[in-house]
Amino acid sequence: MELKTLLVQKKEGYAIVTINRPDKLNALNNLTITELYSVMKDLNADDTVRAVVLTGSGEKAFVAGADISEIKEQDEITGELFALKGQRVFRYIEQMAKPVIAAINGYALGGGCELAMSCHIRICSTKAKFGQPEINLGLLPGYGGTQRLPRLIGRTDALYLLLTGEMIDANRAYDLGLVSEVVEPAQLLERAETLAKIISEKPPIAARYILKAVDEGLNMPIDAALNLEAELFGKICATEDMKEGTSAFLEKRKPQFKGR
Ligand code: COA
Repeated sequence: MELKTLLVQKKEGYAIVTINRPDKLNALNNLTITELYSVMKDLNADDTVRAVVLTGSGEKAFVAGADISEIKEQDEITGELFALKGQRVFRYIEQMAKPVIAAINGYALGGGCELAMSCHIRICSTKAKFGQPEINLGLLPGYGGTQRLPRLIGRTDALYLLLTGEMIDANRAYDLGLVSEVVEPAQLLERAETLAKIISEKPPIAARYILKAVDEGLNMPIDAALNLEAELFGKICATEDMKEGTSAFLEKRKPQFKGR
C-alpha cells in the first residue's frame, strides 16, 4: 500500500510511524485511520520490529483530532460507523503484541489524545497540549476517550476535562498520570527511540505476555486476572528465553535472548 498520510521508518529492532498531515495539524481523516491500521498490522506481524514509536510531523501537533470536516458530514448511522472504525483501529494498537510508544510533540486533542491513550507508553515534549475538546463542537469523543481517560486518570479529572473541553499542558498531563515523562522538544524523539531500543533488547515473548496480562487483566475481576497472570507465568517458564535469562543471571553474564 502506497502511504499518503503516514511515514514509516524501520530501524534496528524498532519502527517509527509518523502521522504526516502537518498542514492540517495531523488531523486523522478516514485515509489516515485506514493507513494506520494497515501499517500497524504489518509491524505487528514483523518479528524484526520489537517496539513502535508513534509521533506527529511538524513542530506543532502530534494529532489535533479527528478531521472535523469529515465529522461534519456524518449522520446517525454513518456517525456510529465512523466511531466504530476508529475505535477498532485504536483497540488494535492497544492489543498489539509489542509496545507502542507515543512521542507527543505538540497538540494531542480529541482523537489525538485518544490515539495517545491507546499506546502503551506516553512521553511528551514541554510543548505538548492535551484535551478532549469535542464538547466545544457539540460532540463527544468517539474513539475511546470517554472510556480510556477515566481509566487512566480517574473519573474526577476525566469528567472535568471531558465536560469543560479544557486544554492542559505537559506538566499537568504528567501530574495527572497521562504521560510518564516530559522532555525538551529537541530531545523527544531521541528519548522515545532510546526507550524503543531498550525494549527491543528485552525478550519479546515476555513483553507480549506483560501487555496481554495488563490489557486483559484490567478488564477482569482480580481472581480471574491473577489466574491469567499465573497461566502466562507458566507459559513463559516453558520458553528458551526464560532459561537463558535466569541462567545468565546466575552465571553473571549478559543474556542472549532469541525470542523463543
Ligand atoms: N480537523 C480538521 N482540520 C484541522 C483540525 C481538525 N481536528 N485541527 C486543525 N485543523 C486544520 C485547520 O482547519 C487549519 O486548516 P487550514 O489552514 O486549511 O485552515 C490547519 O489545521 C491549522 O490549524 P489552525 O486552527 O489554523 O491552527 P492554530 O495554531 O490557530 O490552532 C488548534 C491550533 C489545535 C488550537 C486548532 O487547530 C484547533 O482547535 N483544532 C481543533 C481541535 C479539536 O477540536 N479537535 C477535536 C476534533 S473532534
